[in-house]
Amino acid sequence: PEIIAVVPAAGIGSRMLSECPKQYLTIGDKTILEHSIDALLAHPAVSRVIVALSPQDVHFHRLPVAQDTRVTTVIGGGQRADSVLAGLQAAKEAQWVLVHDAARPCLHLSDLTRLLALTATSEVGGILAAPVRDTMKRAIGGRSDIDHTVEREALWHALTPQLFPQALLHDCLLRALNEGATITDEASALEYCGYHPELVSGRSDNLKVTRPEDLALAQFYLTQIQS
Ligand code: CTP
Ligand code: MG
Repeated sequence: PEIIAVVPAAGIGSRMLSECPKQYLTIGDKTILEHSIDALLAHPAVSRVIVALSPQDVHFHRLPVAQDTRVTTVIGGGQRADSVLAGLQAAKEAQWVLVHDAARPCLHLSDLTRLLALTATSEVGGILAAPVRDTMKRAIGGRSDIDHTVEREALWHALTPQLFPQALLHDCLLRALNEGATITDEASALEYCGYHPELVSGRSDNLKVTRPEDLALAQFYLTQIQS
């Protein structure tokens, strides 16, 4: 099936403390955003990428990727979910949509391929996720002393891409936003509406560049992908 990818790229990257939004930092020969877009377009089923930009964005139009006819833009919103919703509204013809953070440049094609296999087996979709490795502690409400150790076996880090039927994700996001639910990824909108998307085990080097120290790691992982 034809799959459209939505890339929320309207954030300011405040935790990165960089001069420009983190998705416009360069690693190797292109920006983080371009690495993320190219990783999606590497799969033959991904026909188009819709990038949600800040209304103040001055960087995107200068990038070579802005000339790619498969890549279009929309204006994003104040929260990540608003940006994703804006992208979905421009993806109405797609049966399935992928949502992938602009700030995750190290996606491997093999992970994308395994996630996309869900289009044949699932009606709800799913997400790339990595099993938690560290011992997990729950603090006593609002404090810094430990209440107990949380069983790690059932815990996963939610990654992107996340893959859902377009109409289902659109309706769940709209409802969750209207009802003031806390939505930090696409799956949480489906969960809010009573669905149970699949966890697809993915590589843990698919990191989200968030803080300054993440940059060197992303740079290293990208050399591993390209070699
Ligand atoms: N994002 C977006 N629209 C927003 C907020 C975030 O499209 N209103 C995007 C970011 O550009 C990023 C992705 O969502 O690609 C994940 O968000 P995050 O890593 O939190 O990025 P920022 O919000 O930009 O960073 P920070 O929270 O440190 O300010
Ligand atoms: Mg943020």
